[in-house]
Amino acid sequence: MKGVILAGGDATRLRPLTLVTNKHLLPVYNKPLIYYGIETLVNAGIDRIMVVTSPRHVENFVGLLGSGQHFISKRDGKQIQIVYGIQNGPSGIADGLYIAKDYIGSESCALYLGDNIFEDDLRVPISDFKRGAMVFLKEVTDPKRFGVANVDAKGNVLGIEEKPKEPKSNLAVTGLYLYDHSVFEKMIGQPMSERGEYEITYLNNKYIEEGTLRSVRLRKEWFDAGTTDSLLEAGNFMRNKKQA
Ligand code: G1P
Repeated sequence: MKGVILAGGDATRLRPLTLVTNKHLLPVYNKPLIYYGIETLVNAGIDRIMVVTSPRHVENFVGLLGSGQHFISKRDGKQIQIVYGIQNGPSGIADGLYIAKDYIGSESCALYLGDNIFEDDLRVPISDFKRGAMVFLKEVTDPKRFGVANVDAKGNVLGIEEKPKEPKSNLAVTGLYLYDHSVFEKMIGQPMSERGEYEITYLNNKYIEEGTLRSVRLRKEWFDAGTTDSLLEAGNFMRNKKQA
């Protein structure tokens, strides 16, 4: 399985912090935000990662991460391999994944939104993944900000709505998705959403229609560090964890 970390975008909600710097390079306590995503994937045995970012910031990522020399593979004890993909504009998560199509080839992939931080141990669901799709759900107090899963009594996901005005549950779809290689076929004919993006929720719903989307409930902390408050909250959490 290969990893794809999306680290583009203008992060307007974090201005002026992001006028010059990319959001994923900002500190979360003692590390740049993107380190948390890389470490989650590497701990789960993924040692080939494409970081997809904007032309404006790619050099900064190359300077920080190089070819992956700061991270050691769990498989062979050698450095992991990081490569870069360029997303020219903010045209959505599915579009960002499409940039990694040839890199992923016929393998499955873990798509990771670079501003997410997971505290749950995700090694088993990632390393056991074979086909279909998998999403990771977390109970939140403000579901309108997220993709929201509609689940039945057994916990099966019946549908996902992107930022619904009237959410059918309080279960947010977090920024980690596991896909088999059919994800790229599912992009054929995908329409742009009203906000002008190729939405990841569209692809997840395609898997639901096919009956191949599974979900995992997260029990521990999860941060979507895309706002000043959540960035600070994540930093404070990491500081307390380190000092505990
Ligand atoms: C994106 C997805 C949304 C998901 C969220 C998780 O939203 O579109 O479905 O719940 O990431 O971080 P965005 O952060 O682009 O608004």
